[in-house]
Amino acid sequence: MPTNRLAAFFLALAAGCGDAPPPATATEAVHAYCGDDYVAVERRIDRLLRRMTMSQKVELTSGALSPKPWLVPGLEELGIPPLVMTDGPRGASKTVGNATAFPVAIARGATFDPELERRIGETIGREVRAYGRNVLLAPTVNVLSHPRWGRAQETYGEDPLHLGIMGTGFVLGAQTQVPVVLKHFAVNNIENTRRTVDVTIDPRTLHEVYLSQFRRIIDEARVASVMSSYNSVNGTMMFENEPMLRGILKDSWGFAGPVVSDWASTRKNTDTVSHTERAAAAGLDIEMFVPVIYGDDLALAVVEGRVPEAQLDDLVRRGLRLRFCHHLDTNPAVEDPTQIETAEALALAREASERSMVLLRNEGGILPIARTAGTNIVVTGPLANVENLGDTGSSDAASTDVVTPLEGLIANAGAATVEWVQTTTAPADTAKIIAADVVVVVTGLTHFDEGEADLGTGDRDSLALPAPALQAISDAMALSTHVVVVLEGGSAVTMSGFVTDVEAIVEAWYPGAQGGNALARVLFGDVNPSGRLPIAFPVAEADLPFFDNVSTSVTYGYLHGYRYLDQNGTAPLFPFGFGLSYTTYGYANLAVTAVDVEGEARVHVEVDVTNTGSVAGRETVQLYVGRPTSAVSPRAPRDLRGFTQVDLAPGATQRVTIELPVSDLGYWDTATSAFVVEPTTYRFEVGSSSRNLPLTSDLALAP
Ligand code: BGC
Repeated sequence: MPTNRLAAFFLALAAGCGDAPPPATATEAVHAYCGDDYVAVERRIDRLLRRMTMSQKVELTSGALSPKPWLVPGLEELGIPPLVMTDGPRGASKTVGNATAFPVAIARGATFDPELERRIGETIGREVRAYGRNVLLAPTVNVLSHPRWGRAQETYGEDPLHLGIMGTGFVLGAQTQVPVVLKHFAVNNIENTRRTVDVTIDPRTLHEVYLSQFRRIIDEARVASVMSSYNSVNGTMMFENEPMLRGILKDSWGFAGPVVSDWASTRKNTDTVSHTERAAAAGLDIEMFVPVIYGDDLALAVVEGRVPEAQLDDLVRRGLRLRFCHHLDTNPAVEDPTQIETAEALALAREASERSMVLLRNEGGILPIARTAGTNIVVTGPLANVENLGDTGSSDAASTDVVTPLEGLIANAGAATVEWVQTTTAPADTAKIIAADVVVVVTGLTHFDEGEADLGTGDRDSLALPAPALQAISDAMALSTHVVVVLEGGSAVTMSGFVTDVEAIVEAWYPGAQGGNALARVLFGDVNPSGRLPIAFPVAEADLPFFDNVSTSVTYGYLHGYRYLDQNGTAPLFPFGFGLSYTTYGYANLAVTAVDVEGEARVHVEVDVTNTGSVAGRETVQLYVGRPTSAVSPRAPRDLRGFTQVDLAPGATQRVTIELPVSDLGYWDTATSAFVVEPTTYRFEVGSSSRNLPLTSDLALAP
C-alpha cells in the first residue's frame, strides 16, 4: 500500500482549515447571495424600509390565502411583487395543474449525476414559472437516516456529500427559472411525529451528518431561501430555534436570504410564552401559510418594544432581497401553457427514469430480454398496470399521460409478444406463466405504504414488502424459473424469501410519467442500467439503528445507513453505491497525490477504469475515505468523499479523476466549533460501491 508523506507546507495549509470559511462580513454575505447587483438592491431596500409603515412591513412577513393560497403579499404601490409559492420535488405540484412528473428524488439520487439533476431542476422550475408561480418549494435534502421514513422518496439518499452534490445540481438548474426554498432545515427525518418530536443531537453529528449538505448547497448554488422544519432540535422548535437559524445558518454560514416556516409549524402564543418574540429573534423571516404568531401579534410586539423595529426590518429586508436579487419585479413569472409537459420535458423524464433504475440481480443472463419473434413475455404483479408516481402529500405531481410498466413493455416489445396476466392463481393464467420465456412481476410500494404525514400515509410500518407483493413474487417463482422482479417504491425493502431465488431484480423506484417506457428500454437492453443505490438495503431491519417514530423525544447517533453497517461488520443485502450493469468494469493504477491549486490544498485521485464486458456502459466511480489510525471517535469506517461517471465502449479504458479540497476531510471539532483536518493517515478507497473497493492508497497528514 503506497504511503505518501506530505510536505510541511501542505500540512500548514490543511491544519485548521475546515469547510469553506463564512463570508467575513455581512456585506460579503449579501454579495454572495445576490451577485453583483447587491449594492443597488440594498440601497433600494433601505429606501423602501424608510418609506414603509409598520403594518406594511408586517404584511410582508407572513402568508395569505387570497388572492391565491401560498402567497406572501407584495405591495404593488411600492413595486414589491408577491411571492407565489408552489411545491415541486418531483414536478410542479398537482395543486396548480398537470405537469411533467419526474421520477422521485431518491430515483434521481440513484443516477449519481448532478448535471442531469441540473436539467431536471431547470425543467421543473420552468413549469412552475409557466403556472405563474415565482417560488419553488424544493428540493428536499434531509438525510435518509432510516429507510422507513415516509418521505424517503423526496430526498436523494442517505449520504450527506451525495445529497449536497445532487441538491446543488437541482438548485443551479431551478434557479435559472425561479428562486427555490431548500427544505427542511433541519434534522427532519421522521414523519409520524414530525410536528412534535424533539431530536437531541450532538454538535458533531449535527454538523457532519445532518447539516453539511445544506451548507454545501447554500455555498455552491446561492439558494434563495431555506424552510425551517416542523420538529424541535435540542429542545427548541425549529421555527424559533435561535442557535440553528440565527446562529448557524445566518451568522456562521452567512446565509443572507429569508427563512420560511414549514406550513403551520408555528405555535400560538400563550400567557407565558411569546413565540412571536422568539421566532423574530431567532430569524424566522416569513411565517407560512397564514399568520399565527406574526400579523397582528408581530405588530403589537413591535409597538410594545418586545420585538425591536430593527429586527422586523431584517425580516422584511431578507424577503425583499429574495424578490429583487431574483428579479421577481422586472422578470415576473408569466403563465405559459406551451411550456408545460413539453416533448423535451417528457424525454428528460424518460432519460432520468432510465438512468435511475438499479439492476440488483441478473442470473443466467435473463436480462436483457431479446426482442425476437417467438419471445413470449408475461407481465404480472399488483403494479403491472398502475400509474404509481409516489406520495400524495405535498410532493404530489400528476401528468396528463403516465406510461405504466405494461404499456411501456407492449410499446417497446418489437417482435416479442407481451401479455398481461392479472392473476397468478387462475388455471388459464398459471398456464401462461408456466409457458412464458420471461415473467416480469411488477410490485413494491405505493402511496398507501409511505408518504408525508397528515397529507399521506406517513412512515412505513416495516421494511418488508406488503403481503400481496410477496405473494405475487412467490406465485411466479413457483411456476417459472424466468422471473424478473421489478420493484417500485421510495426506499429500501427487505427481500427474504426471494432475493436469491428469482432470476433478476430491478429497482425502478417511483419512475415518473415515462417510467413504463424507461423500464422497457432497460429490460430490452436499449439502455444499459447504470443506476446505483443511494441507500444501503439491509438484510433485516434489525441491522439498522432503531427507528423510533412514536416517541416525542429521540436521540440521534453519529452512524446510520452504510456507515452503521460497516461499523458493525454487518453485510448489507445490497450496499450503498451498488448496481449491476450488462457489462463489467475493472479498476487499476490508483494514484492519490496532494496538490496545491492556487493556494488551496487538494487531494487528486486518478484511476484507470476499463469496460471489461461486451457492451457499452456507464460506470459510477466512487471514492471513499477512512482514517484507520484516527484519534477522533466516533469515526465511520469510510465516508463517500467523491464520485464521477465515465462512459466506456467495450474494451475501452479511461483514466478518471476525482479531486477534493483537503478541507472536505475535516471533522467537526467541538472544542473550536469548526471543521478541522486531523493530522493522521487517510485511506483512499476506490471502486464501484461501498463494499467493492478494489484499490486503496494511504495519504498521511503527519505533524
Ligand atoms: C411540507 C413541505 C411543503 C409544505 C407546503 C408541508 O407539509 O412539509 O415540504 O413544502 O407543506 O406544501
